[in-house]
Amino acid sequence: MDVFKQSNRAGWDERADIHAQDRTGFYAIDRFLAGEDVLYPIEAAEIGDISGQKLAHFQCHIGIDTLCLARRGAIATGLDFSPHAITQARSLSERSGIRADFVEGEVYDAPALIGSDFDIVFTSWGTITWLDDIRAWAQAIAGVLKPGGRLYFADTSPTIEVFEQVDGTLRPHYDWRSAREKPQRFDAETTYTGDETPLVTNFTYEWMRGTSDVIDALLKAGLRLDFLREHEVLPFKMFPMMVDAGNRMYRLPAGIPRMPLALSLGATKL
Ligand SMILES: C[S@@+](CC[C@H](N)C(=O)[O-])C[C@H]1O[C@@H](n2cnc3c(N)ncnc32)[C@H](O)[C@@H]1O
Repeated sequence: MDVFKQSNRAGWDERADIHAQDRTGFYAIDRFLAGEDVLYPIEAAEIGDISGQKLAHFQCHIGIDTLCLARRGAIATGLDFSPHAITQARSLSERSGIRADFVEGEVYDAPALIGSDFDIVFTSWGTITWLDDIRAWAQAIAGVLKPGGRLYFADTSPTIEVFEQVDGTLRPHYDWRSAREKPQRFDAETTYTGDETPLVTNFTYEWMRGTSDVIDALLKAGLRLDFLREHEVLPFKMFPMMVDAGNRMYRLPAGIPRMPLALSLGATKL
């Protein structure tokens, strides 16, 4: 594992332990434990019937979404490279009484780690910017799906990733693509949930890319695109100016041009 990933993994280990405390309610763990489905409205509306389906959740983090998907009837396996995230996910599985498997490992190694007979790969909100090779990501998805199996993906739109908030407005600030050996560094003293615990690993390395790179990688890996949608909301405040849009989602305030903040897509392995 290279230095960027090692550093990112240390950061995710820290955040996993903070997020499992859920002091700000960002992950709605209490509501989840009380029986509520806490998937965000975009994927909740788009995932469709998953009952009885064998589902792989890539980058499952502390497992809340994996367990919500299992609660909807999926036979779920979560995969994440952070050992702390996997430990927290197993603990939440035990506390909730919802069964799911959690496996520690890299996305790229998914077929070797979890097998290749899945009906669905689910991955959402904070995924591909952590990966240095989008083609290997798409190949891993194709590798775990059986023929006819489908991918559901929802995340921040690459269109918006180039912006930063400066003096109350949004300005293009970052290149839209990063070379594999030169990721974008972002500094953050605390995590995105609003918890004020200072982070030791207070920076991240992330890889920027265009929507076309994502689609191209999926097509080249042998998937067919079923739908591609854009949304004007996100489940986190990507920019401090963003305002509450209800249902744990945020949007840009009035006066700022409307832009696609999120995208979601479905694809089928041929
Ligand atoms: C923002 S979280 C996942 C999103 C999920 N929606 C959530 O918030 O619970 C990103 C996750 O990706 C994991 N991750 C980052 N790079 C990875 C890699 N190469 N292989 C597997 N997991 C990875 C991190 O450990 C982290 O748990």
